[in-house]
Parts: sequence; C-alpha cells; structure tokens
Amino acid sequence: MRVEVYRSSEEASLRALEIFSSSLQEGADVFGMATGSTPERLYELLSQSDIDFSKAVSINLDEYVGLDESNSQSYAYYMKKHLFKDKPFKATYIPNGHTQSIEEELNRYDQIIEENPIDLQLLGLGSNGHIGFNEPGTDLDAPTSLVQLTQSTIQDNQRFFDSKEEIPTQAITMGIGSILKAKKIIVMAFGSQKAQAVKGMIEGPVTSDLPASVLQNHPNVYVLLDKAAASLLKR
Ligand code: GLP
Repeated sequence: MRVEVYRSSEEASLRALEIFSSSLQEGADVFGMATGSTPERLYELLSQSDIDFSKAVSINLDEYVGLDESNSQSYAYYMKKHLFKDKPFKATYIPNGHTQSIEEELNRYDQIIEENPIDLQLLGLGSNGHIGFNEPGTDLDAPTSLVQLTQSTIQDNQRFFDSKEEIPTQAITMGIGSILKAKKIIVMAFGSQKAQAVKGMIEGPVTSDLPASVLQNHPNVYVLLDKAAASLLKR
C-alpha cells in the first residue's frame, strides 16, 4: 500500500485527479466509481478538467435497493449530478436497485465486471471499515451481492435523508473479490471519524471484520488521506 498523507482533503483530491489523469494517458479505459461525500471534490475537479471519458466505461460499486434513478438519494442520481452530466462516458454501469429480480441483477453485474476488467477502482471507506457496501463479516471472495446494511452504516448515511425511515436497509454491492481484481485502486478517507477504520485497514490484520484490510493483499493501492484520517497511524 502506498499511503500518502495530505494537509487537506483538497490536496488529496488533487492527487487523485492526477492519478486518474495519468491512468487515462497510460491507456486505462474502465473506471470503477464510488459515491459518498469523500469523492465529491474529486468529481468536481474531474468535471472542470479537460479529461475526456467519452471512450471509457464506468462501473459503480453499489446502489441502494428500492431506489430508482429518479430518487435524489440513489447513487445513479448522485453520479449524474456529480460527474456524468459534465463528463459522459461511452457506457456507465450502476447496479439496478429497483429490479424485479435481484438474482438476475447480481449475475448481470458480475458479467459486466468480467467483460470490462477494471483498470482503476476508486474507493471511499465506511467508518466501520466497509468498502462499497461490503459490511464487516462479508466473505472476502464475494461476487456482486445483496447485503443488509449495518446499523452503523444506516446511522452514518442518515445525514443524506430527511428521516431515518427513508433510508434503505439493503443494497447491491460489487463484492470484495471483484474489487481486488482491479489493476489499480485508490482509497480516499478524510476526517477523524475515519481514523480508526484507516488504522485497521493499514496496520491491522487482514480480517473480514474490517473489509478494507483485505486491500493489504493488493499489489497496487494508493491510500490518500488527510491529516485527521491519518491521525491514529503509527508513522
Ligand atoms: C457509503 C458508500 C461507500 C462510501 C461510504 C463512505 O456507504 N456505499 O462506497 O465509501 O458510504 O461515505 P462518505 O464518503 O460519505 O463518508
């Protein structure tokens, strides 16, 4: 893991922009995308840049079950708002959380990932160490899965919803097995509320109790942190 600590989330986001840009120049054309507040500034920087994704494919990590793309809390809506409206891709894939058959959707998504090997995967980090929506206890080889969100994740994401009752309790997520197949991975984490998960991810044992720790097994991971998120690291 290449751990880089920046004075601010702004500087870390600029570094992520640089990695996106150099990967594209080196021929990357399949990008794994993340949602949440952490990558918002990166998406703004990408939107304002002269980067051209029109020949590239994007594959998102996850989506809430029960929300369609017109729902402003869905990740499909988020991606359109923060990136795709300014930077269209040749094709964009997000799990369909509003499908009639979850089983078929999981298979469809695995097939998409298999046909489009991910060159660069962007990840945020849940405060409980989840990546995508792979919660603690997840099988570290899992393919795309239907998951039950933990109370701590529901609580963390409550800030985006008007009331707790509106927060979906299930999601479809790309599995850890698929995430690990990406050629290069960027993990971004900002703020003291991520410090414990960051410590476990980098210095702790590889364990399904903290799914992000499995990234220690990947040969090409950039961890971009601000000072607060790095505050519990030994060095
Ligand atoms: C959600 C998403 C994750 C994201 C995490 C952290 O649970 N499924 O992909 O990394 O939230 O969100 P934030 O960046 O808002 O802290």
